[in-house]
Amino acid sequence: MHVDLSVSWLGLAMANPLYNASGVMCRSVAELEQVRTSAAAAVITKSCTPQPRTGNPEPRYCATALGSINSMGLPNAGYPYYLDYARSYPYAAGKPLFLSLSGMTLQENLDMLSDLAAAQLPCLPEVNLSCPNLPGKPQLGYDFQACHEALTQMARVYHGPFGVKLPPYFDPVHFARMAAVLNAFPALRFVTCINSIGNGLVIDVDRESVVIKPKDGLGGLGGSYVLPTALANVREFYRLLPGKHVVGCGGINSGREAFMHILAGATAVQIGTCLYEEGEGAFARILDELRALMAHKGYQRLDDFRGKLKTL
Ligand code: FUM
Repeated sequence: MHVDLSVSWLGLAMANPLYNASGVMCRSVAELEQVRTSAAAAVITKSCTPQPRTGNPEPRYCATALGSINSMGLPNAGYPYYLDYARSYPYAAGKPLFLSLSGMTLQENLDMLSDLAAAQLPCLPEVNLSCPNLPGKPQLGYDFQACHEALTQMARVYHGPFGVKLPPYFDPVHFARMAAVLNAFPALRFVTCINSIGNGLVIDVDRESVVIKPKDGLGGLGGSYVLPTALANVREFYRLLPGKHVVGCGGINSGREAFMHILAGATAVQIGTCLYEEGEGAFARILDELRALMAHKGYQRLDDFRGKLKTL
């Protein structure tokens, strides 16, 4: 059976729903090109700040049996570096480019968005409202009023379609409150759910120690740890944000988890920890598995099952 994995959204065509999660394989041009030339169907940059940052002290990433913990601290080459990449990007080759922005202040986000608007490039911004790894700086996504104010100002300086990367939410009241904020902005066309589950603690019993250095060992959890939370966020925002797209991110190691995210409502899905651990070959493997699962179930297109999760 022929299985068509293509996705059309935001006026973009993607050959399949997979791309990298911001933060993984996307800090340097060499890494971004590794993703672009892989089986991934789009590329997103590392969340950037106006100036380059070295990030938090190492060790700041550790893989575990169930996923990963990280506290990278937004190491990035600076907005102008990613803008240069966006200027020279071969859009005609059919892999959309997303630019992740994570200013340390609202003004920094506004400055980058204004500049990007002036550049008139076909890339799309994903504004990161959810980095959990900046000591002393809470995640904006957990402050609904501050998000409303930030998005109001962002929508004033950037009129094209854009998206936001959200932290995980854990309570139906919070899903509803955040959805009310997001629904007030028609140009906000997609939300990416989820960033890592912030401030987990992994302990090495043999060494009786934390495993990463920043924040005395606290860091964002990714990988299998976060799959059910990611799926809940995808499904809830899919239901609460009609007309907007949800990008699923969290715990995708195989075609099965990619299928779950799409069944929960995801338009596209990002691969994080699995890409970090396996390298860019993960995209082709996960696509093969997704294709085989769909064929087994008799689905020819992603639309055949997207958002059709049954309840009991
Ligand atoms: O620490 C980091 O660079 C992570 C950023 C994020 O999760 O958004």
